[in-house]
Parts: sequence; structure tokens; C-alpha cells
Amino acid sequence: MLRLIGAMTRRPRFTDLATRLPASVPFVGPEAQERRRGRPFAARLGANELVFGPSPRAIAAMESAAAEAWKYGDPESHELRHAIAARLGVAPGTIMVGEGIDGLLGYLVRLFVAPGDAVVTSHGAYPTFNYHVAGYGGHLHGVPYRDDREDPQALLERARETGAKLIYLANPDNPMGTWHGAESIAEMIAGVPDGCLLILDEAYVEFAPAGTAPPIDTDTPHVIRMRTFSKAHGLAGMRVGYAIGHPELISAFNKVRNHFGMSRLSQAAALASLADTAHLAETIARVAGARDRLAEIAAENGLAALPSATNFVAMDCGRDGAFAASVLDGLLARDVFVRMPFVAPQDRCIRVSCGPDADLDRFATALPEALKSAR
Ligand SMILES: Cc1ncc(COP(=O)(O)O)c(C=O)c1O
Repeated sequence: MLRLIGAMTRRPRFTDLATRLPASVPFVGPEAQERRRGRPFAARLGANELVFGPSPRAIAAMESAAAEAWKYGDPESHELRHAIAARLGVAPGTIMVGEGIDGLLGYLVRLFVAPGDAVVTSHGAYPTFNYHVAGYGGHLHGVPYRDDREDPQALLERARETGAKLIYLANPDNPMGTWHGAESIAEMIAGVPDGCLLILDEAYVEFAPAGTAPPIDTDTPHVIRMRTFSKAHGLAGMRVGYAIGHPELISAFNKVRNHFGMSRLSQAAALASLADTAHLAETIARVAGARDRLAEIAAENGLAALPSATNFVAMDCGRDGAFAASVLDGLLARDVFVRMPFVAPQDRCIRVSCGPDADLDRFATALPEALKSAR
């Protein structure tokens, strides 16, 4: 009896919001799937990682930083922030480094979103952003994609209607890989309503054609851009992203961020990778080649590959989400890890990351079999 009373009275008290929220993982990792399956995947083409791997110079920098892992990383990521700023031709005070774009999105939402605040995104866009908004009690408004692209003008219109504090747009987009040119993004920036902040997620921008990113203007207070070392730099596991914005906005991260979130290894890796411009150029070329190959594989199997400005290709399986899901299951069963969009009508596609020839060969072998069993 005493034990029962203790159990009842010693219950920690979650916030009302946390009590209501489902415990979820926006992306179930390939590791969890491998544990469930009891065997590893032969090709890892589902998480939009850079399967080609990071720059050898980044690897060497991590190796030499390893013995210093007993030290905290510089809480200001001084050297890295200055190097990024120099590369972009902006002041260091306009750059904030954090634990990937994902981490920075969390801080940004924490700075802006109180329970009930309106936030606008595209229906089926990057779900980690939504997860953060839900975590602070924000009210998400979703705008449909138009022709498989996010719709900047519709996002603005919904922001005006709802009095949104944040608009989220990824350019290029995940999961479809489509993109808008700089002009239409510049037009969107000009149309952001008063009191609203546009989050322009440029995680994939290095892979996009020239003319995709509008010029950076850190005097504009109502836009923040986010980039990452996870994609073109191949350092997803090191968790390094950065935000570019007005200095007042950037310094606000110092109110809430985890100051020791950036390890020494992460900072060293990003710094070395940034300096290795030849490797980045080579990576971009390899990704472009793999994208073409993926489009060919899709075509050989009667699927339409969507044009992509990223390191992945969305392939339209030509029917509904249930059909694409069964193609996906067929690929997983054949040890090829891929993913698919979560929401209709985008979920008629599967999404395949670029990778080395051996991995694409495995995908090319598995796809016709997976299609056959799905049909
Ligand atoms: C649009 C978009 N934003 C952000 C991220 C995550 O970036 P990071 O690894 O820097 O957190 C991804 C990863 O897939 C993405 O697709």
C-alpha cells in the first residue's frame, strides 16, 4: 500500500503540451530497420546522405582532433563561423553554427513559437520542422505542393491569412528534389508579411543549378537561411549546420542554444571540408552523374524520374501511395534502403539517394523485381 501511494505521488509532472504530444521519430533510421530485419542493408540510399563520403582532408582533421576529444569544443565555433562568413562574403556576426539544420530549426522555433502561434509550411515537406513546431505548441498550416514543387505564393497567402510568425520553405525541396529559381525566391522574400520570418532551408543548395539561390542579404531581417555540412560535404554524422541572417536574429540564438553542442571533431571536420573546394566540386560532379544514372534506371523500368536539384531522385511509380509503398517494401526486402514521401500526392513516388555505381547497380537489379512483385 505504501509503495502504491509513493508511486502515485512521486510521478513527475510533464507539461500539458508534452502530455498531449505523441512520442515519435520523424525518420525511423536504417539502423532501426536493420535491427528489426535482423540483417544489414546492402545499399544505403534512403537518407540523402552523401554515400560517396567526406573529403579525405575532413577525415584527417577528425583523426587529429580525436586525441583532443577530452576538451569541449569552442562554444562559439569561432574559426568555423569566420571561415563560413569569409566564404560567403558576409560578417561573422551573421552566421550561427549549430547541430545541423535540425538543431538550428529547433532553436529558431523555440525563439518564435508559443502555444497557438501560426506557422506555415508545405503539406508533406520536411517533417523535422513540423516536429519542432509541435514541440512548442505551434499551429501548423500546410499548403499543397503545386506540380510537385512547393508553392511560394500560396505559402505567403496562407501566412497572411493566418498571421503566421514563421514560413518554412526548402529550396531545393525534400522529398521531391524540385526547386525554384532565385527570382521566384527573391519575389517571395519581398512578399513576406510584416511580423513573419521566412526560413529558407538550403540544405541541398550546393547541388542545385547556378541561379537557384538568391544573393545573400543579411540586412533583411525577415529571412533566415540554413545550410549544412550533412549533404554536399558528406558529414551528416558530425551534425554541423549554419544559419545566415540579420545579426540581431543570429545573436538571439545565444539565448537558447546548447553552447557545447558542437564537438571539436565536428568543428575541425567542417573547417577542413570547407577548405577542400576541389573535393566539393568533384562531389557535385559525381552526384550529377549518379542522378543521371538514377533517371536512366527509372526510365528503363517505365518510371518517371522527377528533375532533381539535390542528391536524390524522386521516381513517380505511376499509381497511388499504396503502390509506391509496396515497391518500397520490395526494395527493402531486397536489402536496398530507400524512402518515400509521406503525403499524397507526393507519396506516389519513391525517393532514392545518389551513390557509387555499386550501390546503384544493386538498386537497378532490385527495382524491376520489386515492381514485378508490387504489380
Ligand atoms: C530539407 C532538409 N533540411 C534539413 C535536413 C537536415 O539537415 P542537418 O543534417 O543539417 O540537420 C535535411 C536532411 O535530410 C533536409 O532534407
